[in-house]
Amino acid sequence: MCGIVGYIADENVTGVIIEGLKKLEYRGYDSAGIALCNDNNLLVRKKKGRIANLEDLIRDEGLFSHTGIGHTRWATHGEPSDRNSHPHTDMSGRIAVVHNGIIENYAELKEELMAEHGSVFRSDTDTEVAAHLIGVYYDGSNLEDAVYQATQKMRGAYAFGVISADEPDKIVAARKDSPLIVGLGKRGNFIASDIPALLKYVRQIYLIENNELVVLKENEVKIFNADREEVHRDVFNVTWDADAAEKEGYDHFMLKEIHEQPSGIRDTLIRRLDEQGEIVLDGIDLTKEEIEKFDNVYIVACGTAYHAGLIGKFAIEKLAHIHVEVDVASEFRYRDPYIDENTLFIAISQSGETLDTLGALRMAKEKGARIMSVVNVVGSSIARESDDVFYTWAGPEIAVASTKAYTTQLVCMYLIALYMGRKKEVLSDELYHEYLEELSAIPEKLEKYLKNQEQVETVASKLYQQDHAFFIGRGVDSAVALEGSLKLKEISYINSFAIAAGELKHGTIALIEKGTPVIALATQQSLLEKTVSNIQEVKARGAHVFAIAQEGCEEALKDADEFVVIPQCMDDVSPILAIVPLQLFAYYIARFRGCDIDKPKNLAKSVTVE
Ligand code: F6R
Repeated sequence: MCGIVGYIADENVTGVIIEGLKKLEYRGYDSAGIALCNDNNLLVRKKKGRIANLEDLIRDEGLFSHTGIGHTRWATHGEPSDRNSHPHTDMSGRIAVVHNGIIENYAELKEELMAEHGSVFRSDTDTEVAAHLIGVYYDGSNLEDAVYQATQKMRGAYAFGVISADEPDKIVAARKDSPLIVGLGKRGNFIASDIPALLKYVRQIYLIENNELVVLKENEVKIFNADREEVHRDVFNVTWDADAAEKEGYDHFMLKEIHEQPSGIRDTLIRRLDEQGEIVLDGIDLTKEEIEKFDNVYIVACGTAYHAGLIGKFAIEKLAHIHVEVDVASEFRYRDPYIDENTLFIAISQSGETLDTLGALRMAKEKGARIMSVVNVVGSSIARESDDVFYTWAGPEIAVASTKAYTTQLVCMYLIALYMGRKKEVLSDELYHEYLEELSAIPEKLEKYLKNQEQVETVASKLYQQDHAFFIGRGVDSAVALEGSLKLKEISYINSFAIAAGELKHGTIALIEKGTPVIALATQQSLLEKTVSNIQEVKARGAHVFAIAQEGCEEALKDADEFVVIPQCMDDVSPILAIVPLQLFAYYIARFRGCDIDKPKNLAKSVTVE
């Protein structure tokens, strides 16, 4: 997730901007840069890698300026590199732009700029397109007007910071669906994407709303709404300490990331659907003939990503009619699976660096498989070594327990399955559109659900002293049960076990006794009666049942001791919603038990060893 810092003041802003960027390091980034107005010129310095690399670059230059913008980039369009780092400039090289977000229609705008204005682009980014567009509207004296005109042509999400060598006395900023704040300092004014960047310098903040544009001068800040009327904003006084500020007021990164899922899912869907509702899989280039050639698909991953693969199997088999096997990477790479040039190998990985997944990928590649990956970190090893890469745009995940990476991986798997089914012409128009409508509705449903999460906390308060737990479910719910169980064990250290509900009576039910917590996923309306029977089986043995079902199914769950409902949806996509109460359940249980939630013992965020 990119970070923005801008500062205009009666002092040299260079060091302050760099310090601010350092405070945003926790968000994750792969390059950093700065642009300064200097003697009627623009100076841009940027570098791949850590902020320290940027500092090395400018160390001996003695840069001085009263106006500047800085950026840490988390790559979305284009690999991490010096040339793709921000700031980006317009054609004249006199306007610099930093950007957080994704411009959905950047390809169209780029074409238009090249055809009508002879634009020549020096990077692969959507941000450079925005810079050129602002340049086209700029008359040298009204930067805010140019930014306004340019944003009118953009679709997608953005927070911009813009400066011009022709008007060094101002910074213009604009926001739509990406965070942006203004800080009111003693010696000048700031923009930033996040409060921690500014805490050292300011406590008084304006929170900028969607579709607002801001003009900052050294002694003045003006905020304009979408109708270009100046608006009054109350000052928000920040009382958080630095640690709380990084978590945006949430107690833990895990909780923050659970709440970021609606926007992560939205971002992952964005730009993958064109105006006609067709799926555009950027980074994946498969023809109908190539898809028809695949007679075997392996989905290979570890941990949570493996659980996303289980849902991927279900989706690809149902929608694209291809046989799929899902394997744990550490097993796959040592079991000599049958692979040839008709095999599609799909690796799923948040970090893109998990060694077992990478090892399995290399083996499949050597045997001739086509390699596709679903990855969160742009430019990571798995992404680089794949033929096709489909990115989850979850943003950086900091808590060790994966949450938003999982739900965005699910979205990617559904999109890949729909795309393949559509290309193969084995999927009806009706089902295709029904799926897309259901997926598009999920962010809003999830937002609503997350506003009302106390119920799960109450259930957790009753069960947190237990030593073990069982998760059961049928159909796709059995895969969600595995993920819910993993979340619980990894952060609360409760011995937890997941099993397909119908499989219980073949042995495991022997372990159910009075008070044993059983978390029953009952979101599949088509299988509800069968799941209810499984609930009755464990109830008869004294289990304490916590059930999760879709709204409207409450009656069928009257035997459960506790239950929560998720918003109504198509059974097939329910895993994206059903996992959320389980993430919260694990979170609150761990919290009641006093565990170190973001950094559970024995675990690392990126597993780069066998
Ligand atoms: C669990 C978790 C792990 C990872 C696994 C794979 O919450 O995060 O199980 O899912 O280590 O990691 P990636 O996705 O980076 O390959």
